[in-house]
Amino acid sequence: MHVIVCTLTEGAISSNDDVDPAEGGAVSTPQTLGLERELVPGWSTGTITLGCDYNPEQWDEQTWVDDVQLMRELGVDLVAINIFGWAHVQPTPGEYDFSRLDRIIELLHDAGIKINLGTGTSSPPPWVARVHPETLPQAADGSIAWPGGRQAWCPSSPVFRDLALSLVRAMAERYGSHPALAVWHVSNELGCHNALCYCDVSASAFRDWLRARYGSLDVLNAAWGTAFWSQKYGHWDDVLPPRTTRSAGNPAQLLDFRRFSSDALLDYYRAEAQVLRELSAAPVTTNFMVTAHIQTQDYWSWAPHVDLIANDHYLDHRLADPLAELAFSADLTRGLASGAPWMLMETSTSAVSWQPVNHAKRDGELQRTVLGHVARGADSICFFQWRASRSGAEKFHSALLPHGGTSTEGWRSSVELSAVLDRLSGVVGTRVDSRVAMVFSWEAWWAAEGDSQPSSLMRYLPEAHRYHRALRALGVTVDLVAPGADLSAYDLVLVPTLYTLNDAAVSVIAEAAGRGATVLVTPFSGIVDEHDSIRPGALPGAFSELLGVVIDEFRPLAADDAVTLASGGTGSIWTDALRTLPASSTSSADIVDTFVDGPSHGRPALTRRSVGDGSAWYVATVLDDDSVQSLLRRLCVEARVQVTEVGPDIDLTRRTSAEAAYTFVINHRAEPVVVPVGGYDLVSGETVRADEPVAAGAVRVIVERSDHGD
Ligand code: GAL
Repeated sequence: MHVIVCTLTEGAISSNDDVDPAEGGAVSTPQTLGLERELVPGWSTGTITLGCDYNPEQWDEQTWVDDVQLMRELGVDLVAINIFGWAHVQPTPGEYDFSRLDRIIELLHDAGIKINLGTGTSSPPPWVARVHPETLPQAADGSIAWPGGRQAWCPSSPVFRDLALSLVRAMAERYGSHPALAVWHVSNELGCHNALCYCDVSASAFRDWLRARYGSLDVLNAAWGTAFWSQKYGHWDDVLPPRTTRSAGNPAQLLDFRRFSSDALLDYYRAEAQVLRELSAAPVTTNFMVTAHIQTQDYWSWAPHVDLIANDHYLDHRLADPLAELAFSADLTRGLASGAPWMLMETSTSAVSWQPVNHAKRDGELQRTVLGHVARGADSICFFQWRASRSGAEKFHSALLPHGGTSTEGWRSSVELSAVLDRLSGVVGTRVDSRVAMVFSWEAWWAAEGDSQPSSLMRYLPEAHRYHRALRALGVTVDLVAPGADLSAYDLVLVPTLYTLNDAAVSVIAEAAGRGATVLVTPFSGIVDEHDSIRPGALPGAFSELLGVVIDEFRPLAADDAVTLASGGTGSIWTDALRTLPASSTSSADIVDTFVDGPSHGRPALTRRSVGDGSAWYVATVLDDDSVQSLLRRLCVEARVQVTEVGPDIDLTRRTSAEAAYTFVINHRAEPVVVPVGGYDLVSGETVRADEPVAAGAVRVIVERSDHGD
């Protein structure tokens, strides 16, 4: 049985009574995570927490009893309930009925299982739309999102908020001090379906947000550049969300609407959290969606408001390299947690049911993907969901307990996974080592992919993924950091397509180079200010001086075009007509590579400028994957960052504490690989030599400098 230790320094929950540190129980030192509350390191557990969503509303009570018994057998520590419970606990407007929720909570509590308690507000019951149709969200073209799915509510609706907060209050009053309560789970995946609402209520909230940001219409008009295209506003009521137009919209309006929409849901989250904190001392969080297909929340601004960073991640087979995206998402989630351990609040044991083709996980893939998250900082692994649904939209989604029950392959994989997690108790609380930072920005993602850009082929996330993927293949772990974050711990700093950033963030990047770091900037970075207005002076405005280059013109490529570089590498999508500043200038760069054909032939393709004790590199095209890798190899040598050439489909990371170091090697390939790490392997329970190949599909977690931690 996994044992949860969850201790708030404020002392409300202390459920670590049955933990024996000699058996791997975490000896916790309270620390500040830069969050509103202090916690013991992350979500502190004696072992890696195993958890799941449970939707018992679908089952009869005898099934609950059987389920809880099986949960104990599997070693489930933490169960998320009431995530979609609203229709059950408030079946009609004037009536709360907690009887079934009471019983399931008691059953779990009696079994020693902790609760991740949903406030239940994610999806309102059908009566909410009938009685309060004004709470339904509207798309940009004015169409209404009707009930019948989930999350059919407008984030800015005061009516919805009142209804939801009444429920939250009732929940907190009833369960806020329950000894089984480990963490509050506000709503669910806020913004998954309803992040952008264009209704009149949202329009009015958007205007309030703009008033607070700009103070006056004059300032707003200047920020949005409304002097162009006759868009100048003379009355606040004329300002609208960026509803469907016949032409391109105003990019600054679009960007602010993105900001507003992220803030509106954050404000909603905070309203729920405030009620919970008034009435309960349990930590409060919500599940983020740090993933390639959701971009609506700026989680850098959300992170300080949760007591524990929790993320939902599912392999996305619509992408070219789903495993590389998993690694990216896990690194970014760790960035949101400021390096502290975090919780994988949802993932799947096998197939999901919302992609065009829902791939089952192959042999061992469950273990490899889960340990991929642990390798990058997760200390808790939870699944959607416990028991596969027989009805409804997710009946083909995998679960810890598949339709066929305990005689299935799926159940056996769940049991094996639980046993492996048990062996990794020592990993809990350790931190991932990295000397490389990548600056990541949701704002740059929104703005770079707006209307009317030089090329719609220039996409933000693929460029960040490309560099991250190449470093993963070089066995180098990357920390994802916010623009403006402290870079002093890093020797190599990557700045992919940071189209918009503010002056403070520019200075931090320049200072990193001056202090000795190697900095690499990739195309379409530093172009505009925070209002999506071109920065004054030579392009790229934010970085021209640091990089010692000027872009005379963007010269993007057609979808099937490529350009050749003197080094033999190729570029696609983008070229800059780049030149270096004259050698006499104080800020001049060396030309490292040149375009030999294409619209920018003869112009520099790669430059390097020495800056203080470090350097600033610029690449003026979207390099092919091999060229990205050779460039990064070179930069790692310059920055004295260790490279281990593991190639694609291998994860190699290290988690350390003062007492121990754990090296994770995950071989996602169908053939054995040699990764030069030997020692005691917690997964197999054997000592392995560094030159012994890691078997096809195998995972090793090598522990050093301590006993075996088990
Ligand atoms: C998440 C959601 C869960 C479930 C899961 C399926 O987006 O929070 O409720 O729908 O996806 O993969």
